[in-house]
Amino acid sequence: MSYPPAEISEEGRSDSPAPSLYSFNSSIDGRTLLRQAYGRILNNQNDTYLLPADNEEHRRLDLQHHIYTISLGSLFPAADLVRRALAPRPGFTPAIIDLGTGSGSWAIDMAREFPHCEVVGIDLAPPRIERELPINCRFEIDDANLGFAHYRGCFDVVHARAISAGIRDYPQFLNEVAQVLRPGGVFIMGDGEMQLYDENRKPLSFAQPGQPGFTWTHRIFFAGYNAMKNRGGSIDAPSMGPTWLRAVNSFTDVGWQKIFIPIGPWHYEDERSKIVAEMLRMNTLSYISGLGPLLLSEGYLPELVQKMQQEATAELQELRIHLYTRWSFAWAVKKPN
Ligand SMILES: C[S@@+](CC[C@H](N)C(=O)[O-])C[C@H]1O[C@@H](n2cnc3c(N)ncnc32)[C@H](O)[C@@H]1O
Repeated sequence: MSYPPAEISEEGRSDSPAPSLYSFNSSIDGRTLLRQAYGRILNNQNDTYLLPADNEEHRRLDLQHHIYTISLGSLFPAADLVRRALAPRPGFTPAIIDLGTGSGSWAIDMAREFPHCEVVGIDLAPPRIERELPINCRFEIDDANLGFAHYRGCFDVVHARAISAGIRDYPQFLNEVAQVLRPGGVFIMGDGEMQLYDENRKPLSFAQPGQPGFTWTHRIFFAGYNAMKNRGGSIDAPSMGPTWLRAVNSFTDVGWQKIFIPIGPWHYEDERSKIVAEMLRMNTLSYISGLGPLLLSEGYLPELVQKMQQEATAELQELRIHLYTRWSFAWAVKKPN
């Protein structure tokens, strides 16, 4: 196994996006979708996605949400396309859907920034809503792998950030997304690559302990990458996104933006980039601590999982290693009819 190359009146349509399985607000608990295992609540509604879905994970996702937002300088890339798709029009309510909404922070922030729009967040598990839910925002339990026959032509922006590990067939998922969008609507995908980069921004090659360039952080990222891939996740989506988007006939104006962020403030240009690097170190430490169940489920011995977690944590806390991550955003516009 190896890392990917570094560059590499429709029926049922309603005027307003209709709830799929069921909608809920902040008062609803995790229902039957979660289970307690390995001391963390896991999101195991489908076989593919096996990362925690508890408060700790949602706090990590909130931190990651801030990293994305600060790095982009906005809640989304391709700002002109998004703002055009969401422009207020008389007698029309633009609609946004956030697929794999996690803690729900992006959906809530979008509902605040675009109060004239309707925003829906869907996920296998409920969000953690600790602030007031805007009236134009709601959440639903749904599995993006099951398709969106109930949402044909209902949305002007479709957002899918950091969910590729839970998507079994990303090209098929994109065909569904294209049908969910209204003409002129925008799809945005974003994800951090599992590939790590050295201080010269060159992709790291796999190394064994004792070999030049070996780090435990790379080792555990590599183990996580392989485990997610083995479970059928579309983990190569960050590098394949533009290619897959161009293959969808009804998409046009495909774009791509990539952002390098150091894990920890071993390199920074100003106070802002120092803070983002520090935030990413905290995010990475939390991500590593949540990888246990996934790695154990793949047959890694508990002692090795613990060693990888402890050693990688020490490397990052002591800032002994100088690594970059790369975050990729890709987008496309639905062609006019
Ligand atoms: C890493 S989190 C990202 C959350 C959010 N998009 C963000 O950027 O903060 C991935 C989320 O996708 C959800 N997810 C994974 N596979 C999914 C699927 N097939 N359908 C719906 N949600 C899914 C997970 O439950 C999890 O909350």
